[in-house]
Amino acid sequence: MGTASGEPAAQPPSSYHAAQSRGGKPTLERAAYEGKAKRVVSQPDGVAHIYYKDDATAFNGARHELFEGKGTLNSQITERLFEYLAGHGIPTHHLGRVDERTLAAKWVDIIPIEAVVRYKVAGTLAKRTGLDHLTECDPPIIEMYYKRDDLGDPLINDDHVRQLGLATPMELDWIRAMARQAADALRDLFLKAGIDLVDLKFEFGRTADGELVLADEISPDTCRFRDLATGEILDKDLFRFDEGDLLAGYRKLLAHLDRALAANVQS
Ligand code: C5P
Repeated sequence: MGTASGEPAAQPPSSYHAAQSRGGKPTLERAAYEGKAKRVVSQPDGVAHIYYKDDATAFNGARHELFEGKGTLNSQITERLFEYLAGHGIPTHHLGRVDERTLAAKWVDIIPIEAVVRYKVAGTLAKRTGLDHLTECDPPIIEMYYKRDDLGDPLINDDHVRQLGLATPMELDWIRAMARQAADALRDLFLKAGIDLVDLKFEFGRTADGELVLADEISPDTCRFRDLATGEILDKDLFRFDEGDLLAGYRKLLAHLDRALAANVQS
């Protein structure tokens, strides 16, 4: 596991390594992937360029709108958070910035599992359990979802992961531990920024070398944030539930985050 001193996390043995040594096909030539909010294009030497679009979607694409500047904001927030996590011993795919809205990352095969860490009840957890909105979850609840748009990204457990062959039991343990460690580090950081990190979603991937890393994005599209002082929503719920100005919320989040990161460096 990673450490707060920035030591890289120990890796679980990978089934991918075994596939490679059996002559498994390298996967780097894959051209491009267009997601709902990002476009990923492969570059030479196992690098991916991840272009952050201005599209906002909700409820599995049922709602869709453009917010000019959202892509740039999400790329900036993601960049800062991946860099912060790398400094806390979490291996990530992030390599650097390419342009205003494009980040460079290691090309990975995304494991089709969405790991959600919840510090407070919201969203589908409230719906599924009837628990009151913003009830504290202590310890945090960690859930796994099967990343399959055509199935509506269903909630799954370890037995489903094994049955579907999505990850080995050791990889799944590692994913769960890394998700908790990364989420705890981010929750601490956001507390210093005066922001309540309610819940968030992580994705992990395997590099061509078989290393497991945190991947995808970490932004207000994939986390729930509340301003601790005012209770204001600062995430995609602004769009999902018509709660207010999405861009203003994302800008405010970035400004708070930058202040906390600057204070972190000084202390
Ligand atoms: O919708 P739900 O309450 O399950 O979402 C939990 C967290 O995971 C939220 O922060 C949401 O933004 C994030 N999420 C995501 N992508 C999904 C599903 C949820 O980023 N496909």
